[in-house]
Amino acid sequence: TSIPVITIDGPSGVGKGTTARLVAERLGWHLLDSGALYRVLAHAAMENDVPLDAEAHLGQMAERLGVRFEGEKVLLEGRDVSGQIRTEACGGVASQVAALPAVRAGLLRLQKDFRQPPGLVADGRDMGTEVFPDAQVKVFLTATPAERARRRHKQLKEKGIDANVSELESAIAERDRRDAERKASPLKPADDAVEIDTTDKSIPVVLDLVLSLVEEKT
Ligand code: C5P
Repeated sequence: TSIPVITIDGPSGVGKGTTARLVAERLGWHLLDSGALYRVLAHAAMENDVPLDAEAHLGQMAERLGVRFEGEKVLLEGRDVSGQIRTEACGGVASQVAALPAVRAGLLRLQKDFRQPPGLVADGRDMGTEVFPDAQVKVFLTATPAERARRRHKQLKEKGIDANVSELESAIAERDRRDAERKASPLKPADDAVEIDTTDKSIPVVLDLVLSLVEEKT
């Protein structure tokens, strides 16, 4: 039997990252923050002045991406880029490079390699649809755009990054539109995903819902 995977997909600012981290901690499983890979690639592209439509070049960079996770830290070629990749600007560039099929293909192997015993919790946009279609548990989180902007604002503030809520809301809306409308692995729930509207739910409530699904299905 295959190594178990729980996928947590959804739009930006919905709380996927936090939920995935808590589920992974609770189960003692590995964690894949797939969005961080697209963000690191975006950051590397900007640093090296690579045009954001240079698909073949970006695809090669994706295949060789020297990224490592150390707890909460994200390292690119050994350099801590955690702060730089979390800005909404970097998220916007990430969603541009993420629309390129060569980039998605280039990151596939890296993502699949995170599937290690005893199990993996993976969060992103296409974890349940493309990267781990055979996952045992698939969750799709939603929340209203206003609530997601509020959460992202709070999260950025905690990291010492200043942002304006209404600007954040329009940036998030723009990014969601791009993620949902692209041809390559658009943001959408897998047919067998369980959707959870988190708008009025606290993190512990969402965590319990996900853990009960895991208990039911594994
Ligand atoms: O989740 P996060 O906000 O860090 O993702 C940044 C961007 O990376 C998303 O807006 C999306 O365009 C892209 N992404 C993706 N597929 C994933 C994860 C992230 O296309 N599995």
